[in-house]
Amino acid sequence: MIKLLSHLAFVAITTPNVEESTEFYEEHVGLTVTDRIDGDVYLRCWGDYYRYSVIVRKGDEPGLATMAWRTTSDEALDEAARRIEAAGVTGTWSEKGVGIGRSYEFVGPWGHSMTLFWDVERHAPQGAVASIYPDRPEKRSKVAGAPRQLDHVTIAASDVDAFAKWYNDVLGFRIMAKTVLDEAPISVFSVLTTNEKSHDLGVVLDGSTRAGRINHYAFWVDTREELLIAADVLMEHGYPIEYGPSIHGIGEQTFLYYREPSSLRIELNTGGYRNYVPDWEPNIWKPSLGSNNLYRNGAMPMSMTESFPAADGPSATEEGVPDELKAQLLNPYAQHGQG
Ligand SMILES: [Fe+2]
Repeated sequence: MIKLLSHLAFVAITTPNVEESTEFYEEHVGLTVTDRIDGDVYLRCWGDYYRYSVIVRKGDEPGLATMAWRTTSDEALDEAARRIEAAGVTGTWSEKGVGIGRSYEFVGPWGHSMTLFWDVERHAPQGAVASIYPDRPEKRSKVAGAPRQLDHVTIAASDVDAFAKWYNDVLGFRIMAKTVLDEAPISVFSVLTTNEKSHDLGVVLDGSTRAGRINHYAFWVDTREELLIAADVLMEHGYPIEYGPSIHGIGEQTFLYYREPSSLRIELNTGGYRNYVPDWEPNIWKPSLGSNNLYRNGAMPMSMTESFPAADGPSATEEGVPDELKAQLLNPYAQHGQG
């Protein structure tokens, strides 16, 4: 298969209170608003190359409206759409979107909207925010620990291996690693990538029957020091840190998780490896090996198993999963013993 996708370009998330979420992204994450169109707010990190990387949209519940990848060419966009439809999924073409050209949006087998496009408007700042350095899309943010750019999105799906296989078979995502429970042969987490990063798409096991949920999405900061400063500043300003700072075993990124006002989880990442091996075979991790916490010394809070919208939210279907199984399945990051 030719390489179809190049990188994650933007995510559109829903929140019950657009203004409250927007203010948080501006004041406490360090994003800037670029557009307000039809109720949607478009934001960017200072180092994003295109016009925006986050769309904040009004919704009844926190959730994922779509996640968008740029293809490698205009031809690759047509080929990706052809492959998706050959796999039995029918999407919708749009001639033009905000800051992007024609795009193809489809809902994957586990209920997640994905948008693909090639033509895109590059960010071209004028005046005070224009950088003095040619490669920088904009001046570095003055907000402490402000991320350089969007990094990845991690969704929840009821079958981690089948999800990874579908996105590998159809769109060429490389499967980089997965976590299987210590106690049972159940895959609870997997990471996929379209480039040299360890992942730009993650999947956690969803024990609910509610389709299309998101666990979190992540931004990139250049250094661990910036991530630590961001953690410090969040704490000082009354925004609790859900988990971290620590280092993931899988991917080896330093991580920090916290919540935006809608309760949706966001993450800061830095460090980690680059992997260019085209025929990479995914390694299998166990939680006890430190898949989530390299140091194997910190239990992950159970709150980290929440995905969005809530499994029992107003649009949810009957869960139908026994409680004891649910507790096990919904806890992909847990430490099992010292390991
Ligand atoms: Fe993540």
